[in-house]
Amino acid sequence: MLSAQTFAPGPVRGTVSVPGDKSISHRALIAAATIPKPVRISNLNAGRDVRATIEALAALGTRIERDDDAVIVNGGRLRESAGTLDCMNSGSTARMLLGACAGANVPARFDGDSSLRRRPMEPVAAQLRAFGAKIVTAEGRMPVELQGTPEIQTRKFILLSPSAQVKSALLFAGIFGTAAIEVAGDRGSRDHTERLLHYLGADVTWDGRTISLGTAPLEARPIEVAGDFSAAAFFITAAAIAPGSDLVVRGTGVNPTRTGLLDALCSMGASIELHNERTVAGEPVADIAVRYAPLRAVGVGPDLALRAIDEIPLLAVAAAFAEGETTISGIRELRTKESDRIATTQGLLSAVGIETMAQNDALTVRSGVPSTAAGPVDTHDDHRIAMAAAVLACGAGPLAIDSDASIDVSFPDFLSTLAGVRA
Ligand code: S3P
Repeated sequence: MLSAQTFAPGPVRGTVSVPGDKSISHRALIAAATIPKPVRISNLNAGRDVRATIEALAALGTRIERDDDAVIVNGGRLRESAGTLDCMNSGSTARMLLGACAGANVPARFDGDSSLRRRPMEPVAAQLRAFGAKIVTAEGRMPVELQGTPEIQTRKFILLSPSAQVKSALLFAGIFGTAAIEVAGDRGSRDHTERLLHYLGADVTWDGRTISLGTAPLEARPIEVAGDFSAAAFFITAAAIAPGSDLVVRGTGVNPTRTGLLDALCSMGASIELHNERTVAGEPVADIAVRYAPLRAVGVGPDLALRAIDEIPLLAVAAAFAEGETTISGIRELRTKESDRIATTQGLLSAVGIETMAQNDALTVRSGVPSTAAGPVDTHDDHRIAMAAAVLACGAGPLAIDSDASIDVSFPDFLSTLAGVRA
């Protein structure tokens, strides 16, 4: 149901915890589905995207039970689903499960909501066809029909897009097909699949460029999901731009393939410290302390942008408060996220009079004094734009959005968590 929302200005103070990481949650569920013993997953992300993966795996014959605040996955083998797998808004569900089903040689039909139907599926389909899968797409998009994988062909791949989802689809094809796989051409995209498979006993090595996966079976080990850095990022950015802020985000994943936003904010002059660093299920975790400090503009290149790919709207919001002009380049992929995030980020900033300029794969933001928005911001049903609007409001003044319904995709408790750190 659509529900308009107005966010208030002001600092964020105190301590917050964020939900389990969405990316790791999908991977934990899919990896556990291949293990013929119960696997307990705690701190699973409770958003709609991860629910799409749970329901699709259940339709593929995996029994998943609730156990207090955890789930128990009783995996082993996938079997053909009677109906279409509804991936809802979740590109990760569609792409990674396509890889898993291709590896398992289980025919499946995938579909999603109107946003997912606009997003490209050809990059993953093309690489899985080389693996041997028979895949038919609707002109490169959903619905996608996997007819099966009669025989495994290619086992060595060069990644054709800088996508962690495509890389993971290939690795899951190897895991579910018990095939040794090599993937070259990675540019340092998030390595959660590699870390998780390693934690579960797979024979996997990776160096940020090439991943080699052997055929050792996965072991049933409990998986604790690290706090979601992309959820923490809203609070980190709010604290960085709103004078008077002083905040600690507890138990957050700080995998370096995800924390480009921290590096960018630090080079802009933000005051950020990591405390209590530890490892959970192969992932680095820390408490992140942020205190308001004045920011200055910096250039953000493609390598850093890739490590901040879901935080570019937030980086652009921070740039609005950073003395000078910030250019973020190498972000073409943003055009095909839940919305065209270069355009929707521009829409968000221009609502408060901040000047931006976009090229095909870059976004420039000029700092300025935000004005009062004339009306609600159009979030285009994109959860990250809706939450970035709340962050912008912290520094800019009251700001309304057309609907907060999309927030449920990744961070159902966002509004109450935000309320908890307002004065
Ligand atoms: C994700 C990878 C990224 C990211 C997405 C989640 C993942 O997309 O934007 O939100 O879980 O692997 P790419 O596949 O384009 O890298």
